[in-house]
Amino acid sequence: METDKKRGGRGHLKRWMQALALVYVLMFLPVHGFREAESAGAGGGSLYTGADTDCSPAGGTEEKGEQQKPRIALTFDDGPSAVYTPMLLDGLKERGVRATFFLVGENIVKDGNQRIVRRMYDEGHLLGNHTYHHVDLSALSKEEAHEELAMTDALIREITGRETEIVRPPFGAFPDRMEEELDKLYVKWTVDPLDWTLRNTDEIVRRAVTDIEENDIILLHDCYESSVKAALRIVDVLQGKGYEFVTADELLAE
Ligand code: NI
Repeated sequence: METDKKRGGRGHLKRWMQALALVYVLMFLPVHGFREAESAGAGGGSLYTGADTDCSPAGGTEEKGEQQKPRIALTFDDGPSAVYTPMLLDGLKERGVRATFFLVGENIVKDGNQRIVRRMYDEGHLLGNHTYHHVDLSALSKEEAHEELAMTDALIREITGRETEIVRPPFGAFPDRMEEELDKLYVKWTVDPLDWTLRNTDEIVRRAVTDIEENDIILLHDCYESSVKAALRIVDVLQGKGYEFVTADELLAE
């Protein structure tokens, strides 16, 4: 009898909880539906025009995640350049943008460029390895290729005290089976405006922003004035369309 009562009590409680859950679902669903429709309806244009969150640290609640801006990454190969990289860093700082730099060892050691690398690190940019001599690694033995990366790793470690976790081989090529052996992530790209052949700011911008999509990784080179000017205009255009620029690891961590 007592057992039955208890069962009855539990059954009653269970029905109550089910009813509450249903009410909760009914209340919650339309909110979700509205938010999804809102962001889907905005298409590729100005997606979310909420508070300006540039430079704010990543993370936050699930609620914020739903309203997150579409994200893209700017990546720069072949630097640093004593002349053009500081111009780029100034412009990125003004705009609250963090980028990813794939550095060439022999460019780090010349012209006092170590200071530029330190500045990149201090300003929150992500540093990656682009070999020491900007060589085609696939033309080298695996030992030589590892040495090319190790030399640049050592330079970056000396300057920042941090290990380099990302790599982009020149010409996109590794010796056979080397990529799997590395303890680094090979960061490829999805948008290549061929800035180094064009040397034309307007055309680089046009090629980079046309058909851009969320999660794209743009490839540029910070050793040309036209590329640096284009990069900053690309930021202005795409920030205006609601995109947020993040470092490549943040994009790939999704
Ligand atoms: Ni390169």
